[in-house]
Amino acid sequence: MNSTKKDQLLKLRAKMAADKTLPLRKTATCMVFGEGNPETKVFFLGEGPGYWEDQKGRPFVGNAGILLDKLLHSIELERKEVFISNVVCFRPPENRDPEDAEIAAFKPYIDEMISVIDPKIIVTLGRFSMGKFIPGVKISSVHGKVHRIQLNGKEIVVLPMYHPAAALRRNDVMLQIKEDFLKIPELLNEIKENKEKTTQTEQLEII
Ligand code: URA
Repeated sequence: MNSTKKDQLLKLRAKMAADKTLPLRKTATCMVFGEGNPETKVFFLGEGPGYWEDQKGRPFVGNAGILLDKLLHSIELERKEVFISNVVCFRPPENRDPEDAEIAAFKPYIDEMISVIDPKIIVTLGRFSMGKFIPGVKISSVHGKVHRIQLNGKEIVVLPMYHPAAALRRNDVMLQIKEDFLKIPELLNEIKENKEKTTQTEQLEII
């Protein structure tokens, strides 16, 4: 019997929790694997847990998370309908930036998480998760722009956005992130329409 996406994610979380080679573990309170709907079409990838995430073991539950929830509401989505994780799953000390080697150590786990969920859209929050898919670009020039990439033999959309914490610091970034979020329902509609077209063609072929 095929195991469900949820089962596969639980197994992956257990494997990650047992992996003593992962960096940042010693200084963190707990692991923040990620959470949400394993069947979602939209995967949000942030930078790394901060103070509150490290306390609660959940992603984006501090001030940046409150903003993320509001942005999701603005497009009539709820956190439980999407999936949220980070490029590193232990809090970097004093919220410093994650280092390249740390991001690389978590990469196989994050890649597997994404491949289990198999989303249609990956929204990157901030430059570290953007760099995973679109290296060598500046977030100021690519935020809100659709990037189509091949992942596991399928075309998916990567939508780079500013980090919500940056929006809390700068009004111009807040305006940009609000506008960029509107791209998500547009893309979801596009995906739905393409699926309907494919189903119609399939039906015709059957007739
Ligand atoms: N910032 C992040 O990038 N991720 C979190 O989970 C919280 C804050």
